[in-house]
Amino acid sequence: MSPADVLIDCQEAALTFGRGPNAVVAVHGAGLRIRAGDRLAIVGPSGSGKSSLLHLLAGLEQPTSGTVTWPGLAGPWDIGLVFQGDSLIPALDVAENTALPLVLTGTPDDRAREAALAALALVGAADLADRLPEEISGGQAQRVACARVLTQTPRVILADEPTGRLDHATGGRVLDALLTAAAETGAALVVTTHDPAIAARLTVRCTMRDGRLTSKDTDRGDTDPAHSLGDPS
Ligand SMILES: Nc1ncnc2c1ncn2[C@@H]1O[C@H](COP(=O)(O)OP(=O)(O)OP(=O)(O)O)[C@@H](O)[C@H]1O
Ligand SMILES: [Mg+2]
Repeated sequence: MSPADVLIDCQEAALTFGRGPNAVVAVHGAGLRIRAGDRLAIVGPSGSGKSSLLHLLAGLEQPTSGTVTWPGLAGPWDIGLVFQGDSLIPALDVAENTALPLVLTGTPDDRAREAALAALALVGAADLADRLPEEISGGQAQRVACARVLTQTPRVILADEPTGRLDHATGGRVLDALLTAAAETGAALVVTTHDPAIAARLTVRCTMRDGRLTSKDTDRGDTDPAHSLGDPS
């Protein structure tokens, strides 16, 4: 197996916020490798460090110790990130927000809008196209954030609680759209979730507790510890 097969290599990466007595260790030495085609769920309670780990994988946070490298990726544009919190630009309508990554990379406006409307339809949000972010709900905004990633062809999709504010049926539809996009493009998909039903639809699940990746289970019967999740202990 060549090193390039590993898209993201996270080795003993830790992330501490603050210093001294107020320091919070959000992630303790996490070992995780993401390869093309991986379908990974990171499950854990609120505050367990799921977003922090995803931000390390995306390069949005520098590890306090350990390393995160991207041997199989050409650059940050190879990562499509669905943020957990609000990430829409208030002055742009939903279609413009969804089309923005395409417009920024040189796609003509009309083609970018067409792709945005198609992606919005996949997450059941086509009727929101002309609304401003302040005119939609949190769950709707979450769907728009997913649609924005679906307009792109990243090699890794990192989705932080993409269904967290959605009802079961809508959440299932959003996950369908992410899984389909990943299958069509060959992207790896990493999803953080509280929801066991969502986690069950990914191939590998790992659990985060108090900043530690504590366990892994897989549909493939894959016992190779180096495959996706390094030994976190
Ligand atoms: N910017 C920050 N500054 C200080 N502490 C932070 C910061 N971001 C996160 N934390 C702390 O790090 C820990 C992990 O937070 P994180 O957001 O990664 O958890 P999470 O598993 O994503 O939670 P949730 O399910 O609620 O989204 C928590 O104790 C949190 O309070
Ligand atoms: Mg989070």
